[in-house]
Amino acid sequence: MQIGIIGLGYVGLPLAVAFAESGCDVVGLDVDEAKVEALNQHRSYIEDVPSSALEPLGERLRATLDYAELAACDAVILCVPTPLSDSREPDLTYLVESAESLAQVLRSGQLVVLESTTYPGTTRDRLLPILETSGLTAGSDFHLAFSPERIDPGRTDYTVKTTPKLVGGVTEASTERARQLYSEICDTVVVLTSPEAAELSKLLENIFRSVNIALVNELAQLCDRLEIDVWEVIEAASTKPFGFMRFDPGPGMGGHCLPVDPFYLAFKARQHDFYPEFIELAGKVNQAQPGFCVERIERALNGVRKPVNGSRVLILGVSYKGGVGDTRESPALKIIGRLQDLGAEVSYHDSFVPELPGHSLASTDLDGALRECDLAAIVTAHPDVDYEQVVASAPLVIDFRGVTREIEADNLVRL
Ligand SMILES: NC(=O)c1ccc[n+]([C@@H]2O[C@H](COP(=O)([O-])OP(=O)(O)OC[C@H]3O[C@@H](n4cnc5c(N)ncnc54)[C@H](O)[C@@H]3O)[C@@H](O)[C@H]2O)c1
Repeated sequence: MQIGIIGLGYVGLPLAVAFAESGCDVVGLDVDEAKVEALNQHRSYIEDVPSSALEPLGERLRATLDYAELAACDAVILCVPTPLSDSREPDLTYLVESAESLAQVLRSGQLVVLESTTYPGTTRDRLLPILETSGLTAGSDFHLAFSPERIDPGRTDYTVKTTPKLVGGVTEASTERARQLYSEICDTVVVLTSPEAAELSKLLENIFRSVNIALVNELAQLCDRLEIDVWEVIEAASTKPFGFMRFDPGPGMGGHCLPVDPFYLAFKARQHDFYPEFIELAGKVNQAQPGFCVERIERALNGVRKPVNGSRVLILGVSYKGGVGDTRESPALKIIGRLQDLGAEVSYHDSFVPELPGHSLASTDLDGALRECDLAAIVTAHPDVDYEQVVASAPLVIDFRGVTREIEADNLVRL
């Protein structure tokens, strides 16, 4: 089987590798020349895909800038970004552009699958008409389905193979073609009755996380007022073997998915005169969390008679989660920006993120920075940092991730 993957990012590249490893011929397409060049030299730019995994694939995985090469594929999978616009509405520009390019080379018998997260109705109402400008009809001349990506970057216990895959096609035949496709690489394929159900299932998964993270973030703020250790409370509640699922508070929600996807559904709901309260409330609480963290930094400095203005604040971890270098929507960026506005001398250490051009900063050497700072804030906990050493070296440490729970020290405060 020959597979085309459009968009070779966090979703598309691991998928391309999974198909190539299963024996398929994969052609990956991206508009980013640097990515295409890197892949053709077997160099990975995604943490979850080591370059050593690309080398053995040889010609089975190659990258291109040319949509014409997709004409020979049996199936083409779209993995392009679906961000929000400045006014926080769905921005389907990437999807529309890639679909228009694909329509020009689409041929009879092909299966097209959308994996990008989006609101219910996108596959049928937005993608299908664009693809039909080819002159071909969906469901008969070509097949069309939605199958959400469930990847969690940095995670190793569940993979593309072991995470059940949802599929919903515009016709039964399309669903069946999509089921057969993903059976090549996934142990379990779950068939849904429509692309809309599959689109909404993915949004439910992300909204569930967003709402529960908001709940514990709010609890952390309340615990601060009540002077109760939120981590102790969460650990105690987590001993219940049923009816409770653990979520941890933190500096706010980041990444391409959780701060963005729920608003795709809110947009769709508004079109139907429906205002989903949980989505908006969770968004509001989570968006406010970086501001709460800045206030905690201010209070911690105040405790040692220092103003934020002029203090040297070292941020540990700036990506949105541990073990990855993705800074999209990272709460660390908001915290850094606010501290800079308040006059703090901000530096950061993050071995996964060498530079933050938007803030004119580059990652500093950890040992020296710990000695020189007034306060070190653990914003994102990467596995390569020794937090005992952090507490031993820095004059004052504030931990927004709960990674110092086993440590007792006078210079340490926690969320
Ligand atoms: N990153 C995640 O953890 C994750 C998890 C589940 C779902 N998703 C969803 O998957 C989709 C892709 O996310 P991602 O994180 O892989 O994004 P990404 O930015 O890492 O990768 C997208 C790629 O698409 C390319 N692209 C943009 N326009 C294109 C075009 N017209 N033609 C060809 N390529 C084009 C970009 O250059 C980029 O390499 C989004 O809808 C996202 O919400 C992401």
